[in-house]
Amino acid sequence: MLQWLRQLFHRRTPSKPAPHKPEPRQKPETVSTPAPVSEADPIAALMPFQIRPLHSSDMSELLGVFREAIQISAAADYDQQQRDAWSRGQSYDSLISVLSEGDTVVAEWDDKLVGFAHRIRDYINMVFVHPEASRVGIATLLYQHLEDGARIEGLTELTTHASLTAHDFFAYMGYTSEGQELAERDGIPLTRHAMRKSLI
Ligand SMILES: CC(C)(COP(=O)(O)OP(=O)(O)OC[C@H]1O[C@@H](n2cnc3c(N)ncnc32)[C@H](O)[C@@H]1OP(=O)(O)O)[C@@H](O)C(=O)NCCC(=O)NCCS
Repeated sequence: MLQWLRQLFHRRTPSKPAPHKPEPRQKPETVSTPAPVSEADPIAALMPFQIRPLHSSDMSELLGVFREAIQISAAADYDQQQRDAWSRGQSYDSLISVLSEGDTVVAEWDDKLVGFAHRIRDYINMVFVHPEASRVGIATLLYQHLEDGARIEGLTELTTHASLTAHDFFAYMGYTSEGQELAERDGIPLTRHAMRKSLI
């Protein structure tokens, strides 16, 4: 924990992210209300961004972050055909459905949604940060909220399927890879890592 805090405080001061163009807002009908994020977190209070629970009005921006993260941040690891297939794997409606279960937190910066993360039971299902806001610790803070929630629930282990792009992030969070495997999106193969972290 201390090491994490030190690293966080030694980060460069981030510049404002360029605004991305969210799709028109629509009101989703079904999004669960996740457990509230602690407002008393002294570290989060010092950050230029805020970590908070998902609101139903976030869905359009959230889908934009998902797509931009895939198309730009993952460009070094997956070709255009793979990124398109991965991106098509979620629609506005399917994201609402996926996020209606489990715990979701989002990161907001200057009233813009710049990242989100989702845990379902002992599985970290999604961590996505807008490319303009990358490497300033947003995924770290999002992830820590999910891991804290898992510990409170008494879970002893977390697993994930990490993209090649996210492998080093999850390794930094203490996960070890159990090897690479092939996932399929829209008939297109994508390599990923099966990863695991003990919470004991
Ligand atoms: C992976 C991802 C979530 C990381 O978000 P982020 O906010 O930039 O991550 P953080 O700033 O919290 O990074 C924490 C640490 O993780 C490691 N890390 C994160 N991204 C990395 C990268 N691209 N290459 C190497 N190490 C990385 C570093 O150790 C980093 O610490 P440092 O910046 O002090 O070196 C983001 O790049 C992303 O959305 N990628 C595309 C989508 C994706 O693959 N999501 C995961 C699906 S499984």
